[in-house]
Amino acid sequence: MTPAKNQFLALFSHITRRTHGVGKVPTPWFTKPIASAPMNGWSGPKLVAAVANHGGVPIYPIGYFTDPAAILKDLQAVIPLLSDNGDTDQTDSNTKGDEGAIKTEFLPYAVGFVTFWLDRQGPDLLLKILEGQGDISTTTATKRVSRPPAAVWFSFGDYRPYLKLVRQHGAAGTRVIVQVQTVQEAIDAQQDGVDVIVLQGTESGGHGAQRVRPLLSFIPEVVDALQERHKSSGLKVPAILAAGGISINSQYRAVQALGASGIVIGTGFMPTFESPGPQHAKERLLKTGDGGDTTVRTRIFDELRDFGWPEGYDGRVVRNLVTDREEEDLKTRGLFEPKGANAFKVLRADRTGTQEDWKKAVKDQDWDIIPLWSGTGVGLLKKQMPAAEYMDQLLGDDGKSH
Ligand SMILES: Cc1cc2nc3c(=O)[nH]c(=O)nc-3n(C[C@H](O)[C@H](O)[C@H](O)COP(=O)(O)O)c2cc1C
Repeated sequence: MTPAKNQFLALFSHITRRTHGVGKVPTPWFTKPIASAPMNGWSGPKLVAAVANHGGVPIYPIGYFTDPAAILKDLQAVIPLLSDNGDTDQTDSNTKGDEGAIKTEFLPYAVGFVTFWLDRQGPDLLLKILEGQGDISTTTATKRVSRPPAAVWFSFGDYRPYLKLVRQHGAAGTRVIVQVQTVQEAIDAQQDGVDVIVLQGTESGGHGAQRVRPLLSFIPEVVDALQERHKSSGLKVPAILAAGGISINSQYRAVQALGASGIVIGTGFMPTFESPGPQHAKERLLKTGDGGDTTVRTRIFDELRDFGWPEGYDGRVVRNLVTDREEEDLKTRGLFEPKGANAFKVLRADRTGTQEDWKKAVKDQDWDIIPLWSGTGVGLLKKQMPAAEYMDQLLGDDGKSH
């Protein structure tokens, strides 16, 4: 695969590294069709920089933010870790001479919003990020350049007001990535002119659709539908990425064969050295086999954490005491659904758990109780390694077939 031929990478071909000296041709930042998922607590500046520096598209997790200033500060922590760390002269890179040229420089990552949470918090943080306030790093104050991220990602909710906002207030060239869970949502995103559609299969770790859509049928059905609309109405077919349960090179090749031009990886990056997740949880993931059986989709943790997830979504986690007890209760009590204070009861074997038990488990990082989000591909992850090495293995760039 040559980068120029990849639809996803071609979209970002204007995101170039700075070139020092005369006569050097800027090389694109993004050369690998792999995005690291926005994962609260499991992705952060180090992983974002590692993925960017190795040519991938990292998505910084904005998540359930309450303090916009803290997010902007964390984003600034990415800059010094980048192999081009931002001491930049705006005139010599990421510019094109043609008419309608993109004049803005971009940071080599995307930011990932949980859309329903953004609805609650208001768009100020998004607007600040679009202005480039995530970037203050430069060695020469006089040359300070504020750079927006290469793309903004939206998942779980109605992205359309924000798509408009990015198009109106963002820099020319800022891409919009939307993660969808149904064929109809993909069709709508094509209609709306979204740049990249991520198809999230039921195999995915973390939150996703409650209804089951495995990538094996989801990807080709969407590809057919979007191409059909291209033929009948001239609508552009956006770049399509596959997300869910992908851990190794043969799976990457399989989703390519199904029509995806790239992949979004969450679980696979969790045990890497650069992920900020706790080491004992990484080891627990690496010991988990048979992910289709040892992970389960549930809403129980949304009840316990009280983030107010909308109907229709749940999350895939490694089974633990809480999911086992929830299942047990469902068996013995039929349609019993733990809600509110009731939900905390599963935290103890005798069903007398309380919110205090939850707080303690969170403080103690007790993975028998708190959620270890994970996709079905977890059983294929065997070894801890740097993110760059993992990316090479996954994309088959290490010269071996996996
Ligand atoms: C720990 C974890 C946290 C996640 N958090 C988010 C999030 O904040 N926003 C989001 O859009 N997706 C989130 N996801 C889902 C990913 O976007 C993606 O769909 C998923 O990781 C792909 O499946 P995989 O984990 O099997 O690779 C998360 C996934 C994991 C594993």
